[in-house]
Amino acid sequence: MIEDLKQTFLNELGSATSAADLFQLRVNYLGKKGTVTAALKTLSSASPEDRPLLGKKINEVKQFIEAELDSREASLKSETLKKQLLADSIDITLPGKYTAFGREHPINKVLLEIVDIFVRMGFSVEQGPEVEQDYYNFEALNFPKEHPARDMQDTFFVSDDIVLRTHTSPVQVREMEKRKPPVRFIAPGKVYRCDADITHTPMFNQVEGLMVDKNITFSNLKGILEAFLHRMFGPGTPIRFRPSFFPFTEPSAEVDIGCILCGGSGCRVCKESGWLEILGAGMVNPAVFEFVGYDTEVYSGFAFGMGIERIAMLKYSIDDIRLFYENDIRFLGQF
Ligand code: DAH
Repeated sequence: MIEDLKQTFLNELGSATSAADLFQLRVNYLGKKGTVTAALKTLSSASPEDRPLLGKKINEVKQFIEAELDSREASLKSETLKKQLLADSIDITLPGKYTAFGREHPINKVLLEIVDIFVRMGFSVEQGPEVEQDYYNFEALNFPKEHPARDMQDTFFVSDDIVLRTHTSPVQVREMEKRKPPVRFIAPGKVYRCDADITHTPMFNQVEGLMVDKNITFSNLKGILEAFLHRMFGPGTPIRFRPSFFPFTEPSAEVDIGCILCGGSGCRVCKESGWLEILGAGMVNPAVFEFVGYDTEVYSGFAFGMGIERIAMLKYSIDDIRLFYENDIRFLGQF
């Protein structure tokens, strides 16, 4: 009878296929109301002579069933895991998913190139505020109040004496206030003017340069700018200085390079002149030194300033400045 129980269990175990089936078997055989439990209960009504042997047999069957169930459960578990791992496996031979990477903006690219050239020549890199006092943007750069030169710059006013800086030149004054000569730095950054067409945006970038020490002459200015322009546009690039006017430099010059698009023969970009205006420069006006307390008898210096967008436009033959700020990735992806 107890042997039958074992056989029935084995048959049922043979057709169990899931964890739920196995659990049901465990309940049916070993549970409180299970068959084995019921068999154990019959022991009390067995004759005292039969009882030890019967008890031993039932216990053997109980242990057998327990062991069988445990091992089937374990193997079912590992089979399930194996199936799951196979189903989840990734095919490492498939091509990867393409992720588009961002790129350096053409303006930053040109800016960093300029910074790199000057840093190699011993210039440090300084910065100043974009929201600037009238004093630094104009007054201390020798633009007196009501001076017509202020009209050259289409200023955005924040209040009567606060402006969005119209150029990076105020950094000259801020730096000279901070330290004594020798001074040698460039100051790149954003500037603002109320102006918009295919060559002007209300915000654009400039790089300022300043070098002050004893015995700084116009030759030093020419030497530094020539070294810069030849590294920027190629060693053979023709350079010329034209007399100009800025309140904070005396004498002042505008610096042209031979047109890099037509090679000097004349084209639409250089307006048939063969020359491209690249930067403004000059010897620091002693009036500016007076504002920062430098001894004009001992020190002299030169300054220069250039627009980054203009240089980038020439370098990459871009004819509309607004392309830089429309953030069309078809445009930006080309650099
Ligand atoms: N600040 C001038 C401008 O924005 C550019 C400039 C000209 C800067 C001559 C200079 C300089 O430092 O010497 O138009």
